[in-house]
Amino acid sequence: VEALKIGLLGLGTVGTATAEILQSPERRNPVLNDITIAKVGVSNLEKPRQVQFPEGVLTTDLEGIVNDPNIDVIIELIGGLEPARSLILQAIAKGKHIVTANKAVISRYGEEIYHAAEQAGVYVFIEAAVGGGIPVIRPLQQALSVNRIQSILGIINGTTNFILTKMGAEGSDFAEVLTEAQELGYAEADPSADVDGYDAADKITILATLAFEEQVNLEDVSCEGIRQVSAVDIKYAKQLGFEIKLLAIAQRDETGLQVRVHPTLVPKDHPLASIDGVNNAILVEGDPLGQVMFYGPGAGGGATASAVVSDLMNIAAMVKTTASVNPLMKIPQHPAGQLVPI
Ligand code: HSE
Repeated sequence: VEALKIGLLGLGTVGTATAEILQSPERRNPVLNDITIAKVGVSNLEKPRQVQFPEGVLTTDLEGIVNDPNIDVIIELIGGLEPARSLILQAIAKGKHIVTANKAVISRYGEEIYHAAEQAGVYVFIEAAVGGGIPVIRPLQQALSVNRIQSILGIINGTTNFILTKMGAEGSDFAEVLTEAQELGYAEADPSADVDGYDAADKITILATLAFEEQVNLEDVSCEGIRQVSAVDIKYAKQLGFEIKLLAIAQRDETGLQVRVHPTLVPKDHPLASIDGVNNAILVEGDPLGQVMFYGPGAGGGATASAVVSDLMNIAAMVKTTASVNPLMKIPQHPAGQLVPI
């Protein structure tokens, strides 16, 4: 089987973690053995890197990568609107499949990109764009698609949840916690995207478009961030039996679909109240399913790279006819009649 060749755009937190997975495929999945990184596009060749590549792989010529006839899949991890959007469209026009974590591009130009991909007969996978490492995009597209979705309530920005959690637990200063989130690789390049709720607005736009099967426009999403929330507000809310969470909400009612992002008083016994730190959770309510909640690490290199690589493996499985996809695993039997702790 010929190896699937990857052009990786961007070598920041997520790009580095993705390259690390792809360069050490042992013990992960045999599909990864058939994938190679052909080119990596960066803005600065001199910058010290945690991952090393063979001579000639790193380049600043991003256009050269999307036009390279040897490359099958582009993983776009540079973020931001341009040149990301143009590079994605150019790559699609050249018949390349796309994996992207770019919520800003997909929330605004998803329709254009999916249309172009349909015309070109290529796949666009976006699992990493919402909820970091949590699988939520594919379940909405597949396992839940038979349901009529009534609402999505989500904590879908790890940075603000991390900040609110720390402010509540330690009474910490907002700016100090933000710096910590940046150091841990959770925050956007421009942290105002996190703090003012825009990142969550991008993500709920994507989720609502998928779940409600109608194009939601980002401009219609009302958005308020957490700048006005103080440690004292969180303290009093706790005393009254609430947590303050930045919720992204998409709800269908008799007036239509409402999509919004704002700090919310969440009763302590609500499933979203206990979601702490960088974790995200997405509570989906549908008919006939009822409620289902997706929970896990919503930001960070390794978690998000896990979603990126899962998309890549899906593409590999769809374009290749290897017999090595999802080998059945032998699961050891639990001895009967024993009560064991987890
Ligand atoms: N800045 C984002 C967050 C990264 O904090 O959730 C993951 O999309």
